[in-house]
Amino acid sequence: MASSSDIQRGDAIHPGDPVIVSRYTTPKRINHWITATSLILLALSGLALFHPSLFFLTGLFGGGQNTRWIHPWIGVVLFVSFYIFFFQLWRANIPRKVDFVWAAHAKDFLAGNEDKLPELGKYNLGQKVVFWAMAALIVVSIVTGVIMWDQYFATATAIPTKRIAILIHSIAAVLMICVFIVHVYAAIWARGTLRAMTRGTVTGGWAWKHHRKWLRDLAGHGRIDPAE
Ligand code: HEM
Repeated sequence: MASSSDIQRGDAIHPGDPVIVSRYTTPKRINHWITATSLILLALSGLALFHPSLFFLTGLFGGGQNTRWIHPWIGVVLFVSFYIFFFQLWRANIPRKVDFVWAAHAKDFLAGNEDKLPELGKYNLGQKVVFWAMAALIVVSIVTGVIMWDQYFATATAIPTKRIAILIHSIAAVLMICVFIVHVYAAIWARGTLRAMTRGTVTGGWAWKHHRKWLRDLAGHGRIDPAE
């Protein structure tokens, strides 16, 4: 039986044809898209400052000075929005034994033979890895970002410290862009997933195929068209 930590506020089954399952509430989805938008803007403004060959990207933000000014603030928005999401979802993202059994059969998953795999809760190991990787990379980025934020904290740290911070910040940013690409690719690749973040719901068939334990848990806990 899946842990009840996989059942979140608003998750519910709506009987009908087809069966629809609520996966994300509206506030969660709005917050997710704020996170997504800020990461894209951060990547563009950060790359603009990263290398002279990409300086032309500052044109998107009203020139070099504006880009330099706005980039850290977008970082603050990303940090706050992601961590609101983080505290709502972290329990459902704790890796469990079943996730490793599932990962050992990744071949079957990629071949679409999910019936050969163990039944999963709300997230699979791939989603959990993206979750924790983003959580770690965002903390590293904000800490190193503040260290080099001379507009407010110029005298708080020594120049050699800032140099190390810049290097770590750039590595974290490159990794974040890689994790982002994996996340978006997976969301598109697993058909029927995008609507979880656009409409807030998935079909019963999608939940049965990819996250059967979560679906069974919802039914077992009576989360069928609740009044909330
Ligand atoms: C255009 C960009 C993006 C798209 C199309 C997208 C799409 C999605 C979709 C469809 C889901 C639902 C997956 C499911 O419930 O099975 C999701 C969940 C999620 N997304 Fe995104 N996303 C984007 C950007 C981001 C960014 C930038 C972050 C973080 C920095 C992020 C973090 C998350 C997290 C944490 C979840 C919940 C999954 C989990 O907790 O393991 N997303 N996204």
